[in-house]
Amino acid sequence: MDKEVTLHRGLQGVYFDRSETTFIDGKEGILEYRGYNINDLAEHSSFEETSYLLIYGKLPNKEELSEFDAMLKSYRKLPEEIFDVINVVKDSHPMDALRTTVSALSSFDEDRNDNSEEATIRKGIRLTSQVATIVMAHHNIRNGKEPIDPSDKLNHAGNFLYMLNGKIPDQDTIDLMDKDFVLHADHGSNASAFTARVVAGTSADIHGAVTAGIAALSGPSHGGAAENVMQMAKDIGNPENAENYVKNLLVNRERVMGFGHRVYKAEDPRAGHLREGVRKLSHQMGEPEWYQILEKVVEAMSPYARRGIHVNVDFFAGVIYYLNGIPQDLFVPIFAVGRIPGWTIQVVEQFRHNILIRPLLQYTGKRKQGYIPISDR
Ligand code: ACO
Repeated sequence: MDKEVTLHRGLQGVYFDRSETTFIDGKEGILEYRGYNINDLAEHSSFEETSYLLIYGKLPNKEELSEFDAMLKSYRKLPEEIFDVINVVKDSHPMDALRTTVSALSSFDEDRNDNSEEATIRKGIRLTSQVATIVMAHHNIRNGKEPIDPSDKLNHAGNFLYMLNGKIPDQDTIDLMDKDFVLHADHGSNASAFTARVVAGTSADIHGAVTAGIAALSGPSHGGAAENVMQMAKDIGNPENAENYVKNLLVNRERVMGFGHRVYKAEDPRAGHLREGVRKLSHQMGEPEWYQILEKVVEAMSPYARRGIHVNVDFFAGVIYYLNGIPQDLFVPIFAVGRIPGWTIQVVEQFRHNILIRPLLQYTGKRKQGYIPISDR
């Protein structure tokens, strides 16, 4: 080792820049986008309005919202060549297929050689629409079906669900999906947004930043938890088994998925909005056991609350997707669909006062080795 340094492994607790987008108080469990509390946005806003708020920094008036909505709708169709790309990677996990396809989309974007703020915002808005179409097109293509053309009659959430199987969902289902997208739209410098900023820090473009963000999001410590929570609920199978199941995990020092958060040491303020959704939906669908299983897991984890380990946003999301007939491996892509406006504004902020993000590693290997010719090794 060369010298004594203070290490911040995982960059825990390190501030690396300033942002005007998302405020998080992890101790109190507060989340605000542009100063607006997530509870108000979840109850009263829509994904379209929240995206505008994140990107432009203010709530839109009626005209601005309707223009923005029209713009989002106009970008829903994918360039024809993109379907060939999806076909080539159709057997990949949907997150891997999404990552490859977003990367390929840069070749077809009319602003591909323009890294100005205006062009970056245009590309971010286009990606917001296109990513939703890619996820469902890939899903249909991998099942040997034709992709379903997006509809311009539905909002972002309704159109996303419609492209799954061509059926228009009921309004409650659309509203719950819309809320889920609002709750996922941004979250400060989490692993995927930080990754996007690192890429933007080199002055690479937003397609590169979002591609890298998708790669970071795909891991189970970040976006993959909703998929794992659903698997856990299936493995538990019955509310009566939940307590023992959780005890076994903890005795073996394994993680209970959907619990814990690097920043929140109080309950994740997004989780409660989805809890109510699971309760209502599971009763409506005649499958109340899913809600009961999740609540039993929460009960079994209650001693961990004292250590700051509470449910996070992913805990209730998975069951909602499952009850809407969405396959488990599409859960993380849904997170990505909601997160594009957040990555867009993080990239824009990074560009505004850009700096190369380049921390240091403390070297702990050998030094001053004499070179040995291959014949002597
Ligand atoms: N179940 C059981 N114990 C846990 C959990 C959990 N879900 N989360 C943290 N702990 C414990 C750890 O075992 C550790 O205990 P120790 O100090 O006795 O070793 C302590 O809490 C601190 O854990 P860290 O891993 O150091 O905390 P960190 O901030 O790095 O982890 C993370 C955050 C990765 C989210 C973690 O809580 C986890 O793995 N959770 C499960 C996966 C999950 O739900 N991910 C989604 C995150 S939210 C999102 O991305 C939208």
